[in-house]
Amino acid sequence: MNITITKTTAPKAKPADESQLGFGKIFTDHMFIMEYSDGTWHSPKIQPFGNLALSPAAMVLHYSQTIFEGMKAYRSPQSNGGEDDILLFRPKDNFKRLNVSAERSVIPPVDEEFALKALCELIKTDKDWVPRSAGASLYLRPYIIAVDPFLGVRPADKYYFIIIMSPVGAYYPMGLNPVKIAIEEQYVRSVKGGMGFAKAGGNYAASLIGQKTAQAAGYEQVMWLDGVERKYIEEVGSMNVFFAIDKGEDNGTEIITPALNGSILPGITRMSVIELCREWGMNVTERKIAADEVFDLHARGALKEVFGTGTAVVVSPVGALKLGDRAIEINGGQIGAISQKLYDTLTGIQYGNLPDNMGWTYRVI
Ligand code: COI
Repeated sequence: MNITITKTTAPKAKPADESQLGFGKIFTDHMFIMEYSDGTWHSPKIQPFGNLALSPAAMVLHYSQTIFEGMKAYRSPQSNGGEDDILLFRPKDNFKRLNVSAERSVIPPVDEEFALKALCELIKTDKDWVPRSAGASLYLRPYIIAVDPFLGVRPADKYYFIIIMSPVGAYYPMGLNPVKIAIEEQYVRSVKGGMGFAKAGGNYAASLIGQKTAQAAGYEQVMWLDGVERKYIEEVGSMNVFFAIDKGEDNGTEIITPALNGSILPGITRMSVIELCREWGMNVTERKIAADEVFDLHARGALKEVFGTGTAVVVSPVGALKLGDRAIEINGGQIGAISQKLYDTLTGIQYGNLPDNMGWTYRVI
């Protein structure tokens, strides 16, 4: 399929101060859009970024038949024929996951190779929007929405696959400083058999109330427990979560993360952190971990670090945890050595500043 490219005649001014970017507030000059109808994806276009013409009856607006991905493009200081390089991080895994989310949501799959090609074309079209300062990147948001104007409940017949892009800095205003997290006891995000493993819009809608309650209690994010026993930790608002446990002098550190169980999002940063820690010879265990166990480990002085992982945050240390009326501070509320090393290594690879022995980077330019 050929992508039709229509360039904007009114390019916007790029952000003057990249230290003020924040997250997801500014959008580049162009977007990608492709339609699905009559059983096929067709008419791929790169066109000026602008509002969609959607029927107020479009099915996505009523029944949330929508899925998305989160990725980033990084400007690497390595010179490539006069242009800075632009790199992606494990993009094929994102499109693979998009199709897993699509299957669960009864959305037709996209051709993963074509989706990556379209993404690269869009990035090349807006390459001057990829930020230049350390820590800033171009956040990429591929998503699919159901657009039939219809109020009955069934899978749609028409969809848009869209990619928009936003220059971003840190996801949390506090940057790499530790976040404070409250464990939610009343609501659940998902259960096995639900959509928790898919990157579906509805999962994020379901999470908002927990975030609101956490924030009302003076915490920045919510941590979700399993929906059946309400005991085991699943994930945090927009991140997967890891615990670094001191196993005593002879046994070093064990890294524990909740095992994927159908209700946890299989994060690409999560997978990369597991692979990196194993590469470094660390003992990584994917298993159920109860909130009570975390508090017990803390009481015994064995809870060294807690950190979240995600594309948007990369690695985000957790400085405090609350469960009911119990609250603990982790690592003195400071970023720990493991979180820092993971952050430095992942961003080092992503920006092309460290050798990529894992084969994770993908060159756009
Ligand atoms: C990401 O890390 O890319 C995410 O999808 C989180 C997002 C909801 C901000």
